[in-house]
Amino acid sequence: MTQVHPDIAEIVISEEEIQDKISELAKQITEDYRDKDLLLVGVLKGAFVFMSDIARQVQLPLEFDFMAVSSYGSATKSSGVVRILKDLDYEITDRHVLLVEDIIDSGLTISYLLRYLEARRPASLQICSLFWKKGEQAVPLDVKYPGFEIPPVFVVGYGLDYAEKYRNLPYIGILKPEAYGGKAP
Ligand code: IMP
Ligand code: MG
Repeated sequence: MTQVHPDIAEIVISEEEIQDKISELAKQITEDYRDKDLLLVGVLKGAFVFMSDIARQVQLPLEFDFMAVSSYGSATKSSGVVRILKDLDYEITDRHVLLVEDIIDSGLTISYLLRYLEARRPASLQICSLFWKKGEQAVPLDVKYPGFEIPPVFVVGYGLDYAEKYRNLPYIGILKPEAYGGKAP
């Protein structure tokens, strides 16, 4: 039984549900990329927890790369402005790229990254996102490996932060109002 963090009002998706979903997604990825040269591109910082878990369940040789982008700062609503803080280390031309993201909210971050990576002519480019917020996407997105649809509320845990905290929780949950220091998200 997971000890619930005192700042969490409610668990939205449990550790067990997350791990079961990851096994399912990893199985699908293993089938789809057999005999392909797979490169996972994680979006820092949020996706590093998810990428670490899913990568270890994909039964294929693969490589990692990471990009770091900033779209939120420490506020809780998307600004729509994406800034690249860290670019890829490797060329992705002619490679099979799977973009690994923690959560899709407005979809602006991932759409920007798709355009950015597409311009480098990968052999293929797909998205794997563990969470997406219901009804919030400003742009239609084709997510080949989707995890959970969640309500359009601000959540923390499993890589997701509020002011850089809570990323290490093994589940996702909603914060108690007092954890925001009086400011509602
Ligand atoms: P989008 O550009 O609106 O889709 O926002 C995507 C990014 O915002 C994600 O990669 C997260 O880093 C962050 N984000 C979106 N929703 C949440 C949330 O509920 N909690 C924490 N971070 C979030
Ligand atoms: Mg993110």
